[in-house]
Amino acid sequence: MTYSPTRVKLRNNHNMPSPDNIPSIIAIDGPAASGKSTIGLRLANALGYLFFDTGVMYRAVTWLALERGIDIHDESAVSALAEEAQIDVAPASKSDGRACDVLVNGQDITWETRSRKVDANVSIVAAYPAVRSALSQQQRRIGQRGDIVMVGRDIGTVVLPDADLKIYLDATAEERARRRYDEIMARGGRADYDKILESVLDRDRIDSTRDVAPLRAAEDAIVLDSDNLTADEVLERVLALVK
Ligand code: CDP
Repeated sequence: MTYSPTRVKLRNNHNMPSPDNIPSIIAIDGPAASGKSTIGLRLANALGYLFFDTGVMYRAVTWLALERGIDIHDESAVSALAEEAQIDVAPASKSDGRACDVLVNGQDITWETRSRKVDANVSIVAAYPAVRSALSQQQRRIGQRGDIVMVGRDIGTVVLPDADLKIYLDATAEERARRRYDEIMARGGRADYDKILESVLDRDRIDSTRDVAPLRAAEDAIVLDSDNLTADEVLERVLALVK
């Protein structure tokens, strides 16, 4: 996998390291649809940092396995795919609501990675230790360069345990499902709230009970409950923590 940095803008237009009082490596973890990507992207834009949504990598491997007709439960075949696949994450080439482009072997699969089929299978793929090892090595290499907002499930606990600021973004499953529903409808798609809620709960269950790098807040993470907050209000609180 390769990653083409999506550096939105450099702080003060200089490629200078972060001043000591501003965290350079910011990890945002949390359950499905808790708003990590929205907040993470906006935070990265505000700071001029690189935004890296690690979930897209697990989604890309899942899409590729489904596309090739590989049995998702065939751990060794899926793991081999994760090790060989050429996954690229690049700056958004279209303004159609995407945060970045996701390419597998050169093919743009950005929206395919958001399909219901991928949603239903990604947590199974993400539980395989060899898949995690292949992908988190790449994530760590990119994250350690600094000036980055990295979002996922295990960034503060496993990928970047030395991150300068760790945030765990939470909300009830019902609120998260409602947000995902609104997001799909806003894109002109079709959605069924009950099915989304079921999928969110299912992924949370698999993600938090797997043996390797389960979803949980790092001991030194700041937990933000976003149930009664708008995205603007969450961003305001996160910026206050940064500054
Ligand atoms: O956007 P949403 O919260 O729905 O999911 P995502 O961040 O795109 O992540 C999709 C799936 O990838 C999660 O449900 C996890 O199974 C897996 N994942 C992970 O295991 N570790 C990460 N650092 C990021 C995602």
